[in-house]
Amino acid sequence: MSCPDVAATEELGAAIAREARPGDVIGLCGPLGAGKTVLVRGAVRGLGGDPALVRSPTFTLMNVYPCVPPIHHFDLYRLASADDLEGIGFHEFAHADGVSFVEWADRFPELGPQLSLRVDIGFAGRGERRRVSLTGSLGKGQEQED
Ligand SMILES: Nc1ncnc2c1ncn2[C@@H]1O[C@H](COP(=O)(O)OP(=O)(O)OP(=O)(O)O)[C@@H](O)[C@H]1O
Ligand SMILES: [Mg+2]
Repeated sequence: MSCPDVAATEELGAAIAREARPGDVIGLCGPLGAGKTVLVRGAVRGLGGDPALVRSPTFTLMNVYPCVPPIHHFDLYRLASADDLEGIGFHEFAHADGVSFVEWADRFPELGPQLSLRVDIGFAGRGERRRVSLTGSLGKGQEQED
C-alpha cells in the first residue's frame, strides 16, 4: 500500500491503533524521516489522545501517552544492544495493558517474534509518498472481554 501524504500515514496509524488490543506490540521499521513518528501521532489521535504530545523518544527511549488504551512509544535507535531492553523496561511495558509502538524494532531481530504487527515504511521517490507494508496481525495481545 502507499501513503501519499502525512495525513494518510496518520490515518493508517489511527486505524492500526483502533484495531490493536492491549498487549499488542507494533514494530515500525524504515529509514530516518520515513514517518514512523508520524504514524504514532496518528495512533494517539485515533485513540483520543493529544497528538501534540508525540515526540520521538530518542533520548528517553520510551514515552507513554494517556489515551485509552495507553500507548507506549519506544525508539530503539540509540539502544546499544538487545540486552539493554530490560533496562528500559521494554519487556515490562510492551506486554502490559497498553499498545506499544516500537521505532527501529528491526535493529534487534530477536524482537521479531514478539511483534504482533510489523510496519515497514519506505520512501517512494522524492515526494511525500511513502510505501508501506504490513506483516502480521493485531488483536493478539491480551485476551479482551467486551
Ligand atoms: N507520507 C508521509 N508520511 C509520513 N511523513 C511524511 C510524509 N510525507 C512527508 N512526511 C514528512 O516526513 C517526516 C517524517 O518524520 P518522522 O519523524 O515521522 O520520521 P521517523 O521515521 O520517525 O524518523 P526517525 O527515524 O528519525 O525517528 C516528517 O517531517 C513529515 O512531515
Ligand atoms: Mg521517529
